[in-house]
Amino acid sequence: MAAYEYRAGLEGVPATQSSISFVDGKSGILEYRGIAIDQLASQSTFLETAYLLIWGALPSRQELAAFEGEIQRHRRLKYRIRDMMKCFPESGHPMDALQACAAALGLFYSKRAIDDPAYMQEAVVRLLAKVPTMVAAFQLMRNGNDPVQPRDDLGYAANFLYMLNEKEPDPFSAHIFDVCLTLHAEHTINASTFSAMVTASTLTDPYAVIASAVGTLAGPLHGGAAEEVVGMLERIGSVENVRPFVDRCIEQKQKIMGFGHRVYKVKDPRATILQNLAEQLFDRSGQDEYYAIAVELEKVVGEKMSYKGIYPNVDFYSGLVYRKLGIPTDLYTPVFAISRTAGWLAHWKEQLGENRIFRPTQIYTGLHEVPYTAMDDR
Ligand code: ACO
Repeated sequence: MAAYEYRAGLEGVPATQSSISFVDGKSGILEYRGIAIDQLASQSTFLETAYLLIWGALPSRQELAAFEGEIQRHRRLKYRIRDMMKCFPESGHPMDALQACAAALGLFYSKRAIDDPAYMQEAVVRLLAKVPTMVAAFQLMRNGNDPVQPRDDLGYAANFLYMLNEKEPDPFSAHIFDVCLTLHAEHTINASTFSAMVTASTLTDPYAVIASAVGTLAGPLHGGAAEEVVGMLERIGSVENVRPFVDRCIEQKQKIMGFGHRVYKVKDPRATILQNLAEQLFDRSGQDEYYAIAVELEKVVGEKMSYKGIYPNVDFYSGLVYRKLGIPTDLYTPVFAISRTAGWLAHWKEQLGENRIFRPTQIYTGLHEVPYTAMDDR
């Protein structure tokens, strides 16, 4: 590549070196620290995977127990954060609420020596512990209810579903949700992770890093797609309507949500695992009215667009799983953020290990030597 060749969206331009995760978009391979995603999804837990991503190796039994215990002890929120949330408009998007709360944590846990290992450990624990509590608290408070306190006897995934629905989930639902968190925990240098890395490179505090990443994840071309998928399936309404819907999208050059990926040119391996989980969940707790539409949509898009490498991405089936677990549609992206906090923190730590502030260049396309026009002459 020539020194100043411009690539829109930095497509294919290496912006960092990283040993956290690996994607082979042609073969549909995703690895976290070298371990295949399907092995982690079937054998690990979200917190163990978070430990792997952040600290670089699988924990021993004692290390995992200590990590889980620390996270459990830091799940509660300061009452002032809850009071702040009370002032948020009920109609506000939960991603905006989460971004504000993540940034606010920096007010309470002020910055110390940023690369002090004890400070890093504390920040990792606090963020992983408190992000789910903030998401669940906002959900209850916007409906006029007091937030539900976390329960120490429940694991990470079960406790979130409990705080959200005020009801202890059955172990299978908690397990499925835990796997969903593992699947979304990390995905190389995507937009929100890049945003986290750029923010981290200024040596600001980790709460600002996560707040910045949350803001980036919120967009419909990134984390917001799962929410859009369910809306799209609702609008399609029936299996018979799928083909005309796809034809219309192609004709009007409209994107079909939950399909396509900058890196994957085959079916996203996470979508395959999620589809399987969705089927298991529906077998146990009843079918979902939109699942047949989703399967038909995958088939028709496959027929018409696979030549362009357009296949389902991670967000295509995740919404259907979340729906079954009683998670409201506009919480799908905050749930993604709960999980991706692990990956963002891993990149924050890696960035600080060999930091150089991000400062790319640009190709200027504007004018030069333009004379200033006085107000009356414009
Ligand atoms: N539906 C229809 N056509 C599509 C889709 C889609 N979902 N995605 C890509 N295409 C087509 C484009 O129209 C374009 O066609 P053309 O070459 O004939 O003009 C071609 O495929 C390339 O598309 P780009 O948008 O240039 O691909 P890019 O790599 O920039 O975009 C993205 C990737 C943003 C994910 C895109 O596929 C998209 O918008 N998908 C829908 C939103 C979505 O599901 N996002 C979630 C991504 S996963 C995640 O962030 C966790």
